[in-house]
Amino acid sequence: MKVEIERTADGSPTLYRQDIDEHYHSVKGALAESTHIYVDLGWHKAAQSQDALTVFEVGFGTGLNALLTAHASLEQRVPTKYYAVELYPLPKQTTDSLLPYQPEEHCSLFQALHNAEWNEEVEINPFFTLIKIQGDLLTMDIPAHLDVVYFDAFAPEKQPEMWDETLFRKLYDAMKPGAILTTYCAKGSIRRMLQQIGFLTERLPGPPGGKREVLRATKPNA
Ligand SMILES: C[S@@+](CC[C@H](N)C(=O)[O-])C[C@H]1O[C@@H](n2cnc3c(N)ncnc32)[C@H](O)[C@@H]1O
Repeated sequence: MKVEIERTADGSPTLYRQDIDEHYHSVKGALAESTHIYVDLGWHKAAQSQDALTVFEVGFGTGLNALLTAHASLEQRVPTKYYAVELYPLPKQTTDSLLPYQPEEHCSLFQALHNAEWNEEVEINPFFTLIKIQGDLLTMDIPAHLDVVYFDAFAPEKQPEMWDETLFRKLYDAMKPGAILTTYCAKGSIRRMLQQIGFLTERLPGPPGGKREVLRATKPNA
């Protein structure tokens, strides 16, 4: 599996996977996308009503969502337990090549996230614990009592098996009442599937310069 580094429109890097012709982030701005969809609409929203959060990320990839969440957790002093599953962990050579693209203030955090052992609980800072799970979302036991799900899989056209109703039902069951799932994908078919499962869905404006709409799905309070 060959990946190439590309700079996105806001200057932040992403990876391009040649074999499936797909980027890890929006080419219109990786940092803008992650900040808006996952940290602001997901983590910050949940932090308004919870003292501590458990997050589950689908697709650890370059660790950008984890990095921004670790930063927010420390800044806001909200203890966060962060599970991230990844079927294809990036080789060290690739993560080392991404380091020079990081803003200086993020470099040590970026290294800590990538140096963390897989399948172990690692304290990254006093407010952020990381559990990187090397495994397949399709077959794993999803951690329970989730407050936030970052659904950051490759696009439905590229990896349809990741957007399967049975899988979203498993996620729904693993989420606490009131928990939220955010994703960049605002397709009508995905939104209707989430509604069918029982989620309340909102189409929200996308990141500056990026997609017009994104999706937030909430599990109703019992
Ligand atoms: C859109 S990228 C995620 C980008 C990532 N969140 C980041 O900030 O760099 C999708 C990720 O899902 C991973 N992936 C693909 N199939 C998977 C599976 N079955 N289980 C877990 N992860 C998978 C890919 O390797 C890739 O890292």
